Amino acid sequence: MKLWGGRFETGPSELFERFSGSLDFDRRLLESDIAGSKAFVRALARAGILTAAETDALVGAYDAVLADSRTPSFFEEAADEDVHTLVIRKLGEKAGPLAAKVHTGRSRNEQVSLDTRLWLRAEIDRTREALFGLMAALIDSAGRDPRAVICGYTHLRRAQAVLWPHYLLAYFEMFARDAERLSQARARVDVMPLGSGALAGSGFPFDRAAMAAEMGFGAITRNSMDVSADRDFALDYLHAASVIMLHLSRLAEDWILYSSEEFGWLELADGVTSGSSLMPQKKNPDSLELIRGKCGRVFGAYTSLFVTMKGLPMTYNRDMQEDKEPLFEAVDQTTAALEMARVVVDTAKLNPGPPAQAAEQGWLIATDLAEALSRAGTPFHQAHQIVGRLVLESVRTGRKPGDWTGEELAAFAPEFRPEMGLLLRPEEGMKTRAVPGGTAPETVGRALVEARRRLEILRG
Ligand code: ARG
Repeated sequence: MKLWGGRFETGPSELFERFSGSLDFDRRLLESDIAGSKAFVRALARAGILTAAETDALVGAYDAVLADSRTPSFFEEAADEDVHTLVIRKLGEKAGPLAAKVHTGRSRNEQVSLDTRLWLRAEIDRTREALFGLMAALIDSAGRDPRAVICGYTHLRRAQAVLWPHYLLAYFEMFARDAERLSQARARVDVMPLGSGALAGSGFPFDRAAMAAEMGFGAITRNSMDVSADRDFALDYLHAASVIMLHLSRLAEDWILYSSEEFGWLELADGVTSGSSLMPQKKNPDSLELIRGKCGRVFGAYTSLFVTMKGLPMTYNRDMQEDKEPLFEAVDQTTAALEMARVVVDTAKLNPGPPAQAAEQGWLIATDLAEALSRAGTPFHQAHQIVGRLVLESVRTGRKPGDWTGEELAAFAPEFRPEMGLLLRPEEGMKTRAVPGGTAPETVGRALVEARRRLEILRG
């Protein structure tokens, strides 16, 4: 069965049918297609095209098709062009000739937009839930080691000491922005396209607002040509998903390093690591490597649809059927990666000794000393020079900050005061970083409380 056979003398070639068919993948839209079609049938009734009895019969038939679709044999030997054609054919098996009326004033161009929007809207909610799960796991991890000091890096060189929760909350902020991006994408998805026809608007007086209300859409689209031409809403999701994956890849990379023997900061749970078939001692961070690796697939999906849409003439072109596989792929991989990351974070153990040691030994307190000198009246540039010389001298003689005393500092340069010796321990300097957004323990404590509250609000 074709929805368009009349104008053709022969049917499509077998090769073309295989080449152009989308049922293999767009069958994922079946539930949305039926939900959208039921709303459309009610709109046909309101427009006087179907009687109440016909409407009930068709809605019942759609429900029966939906029930059938849950049996494994449903898709067997289905050779339909796409999911929309399949559903209408199955409807015919249930409702008889009446099914021939359901496509009145409707085009697959708007139908595919509707189905994808309905499906994606639900998936965005799932992605958001997975994101919130990970954000909660970061907060819990911060709560388990509220006072742990770690070495912070720039250029992957030891930079300044920070609290472990401060580091975790940096990722919380990234994911909070991701949640915003998903909400923005959702708002653009949540717009009802039916009534647009193929491109020019439907010739039947549909109550578009009523259809939108029935399907829980926030708004209706404003231009029928735009509906047939638009896949921005999918690109918006792909962008949000790509940034999520980018953030996840950085977390994964950090934790692969931090859990290595060289760092020894983190112990990943057995449940998220695997061994080597040859080397008995190995415990590999495969979960994190796969999270990092799956980035390629999601970025690829984004790039794929971006390139597909580029330069397409108005309005619908069959190229646009190529939107679905990348979108499905990105949704699957992103949600799975978020769930995996949550479990990794939930089950990892911080080993506070090594990161604190790295913070103590790496001259991370140099900035604290320079700032103390500057607070005591030495212009910062000079303070920087003095501490730079102190570090150079210490590097030459193999001295760590803890090998100095306040008196020795004062002897090294008259600008130092003996009480500045306190700052030789990184915990002291951290206390000075009490500006909002800084790593002072009290500031971080407040940020953590706020993060919990913000997450509750996001979760609604
Ligand atoms: N399977 C098509 C798609 O996914 C549905 C729209 C078909 N429209 C058309 N004019 N051939 O894009």
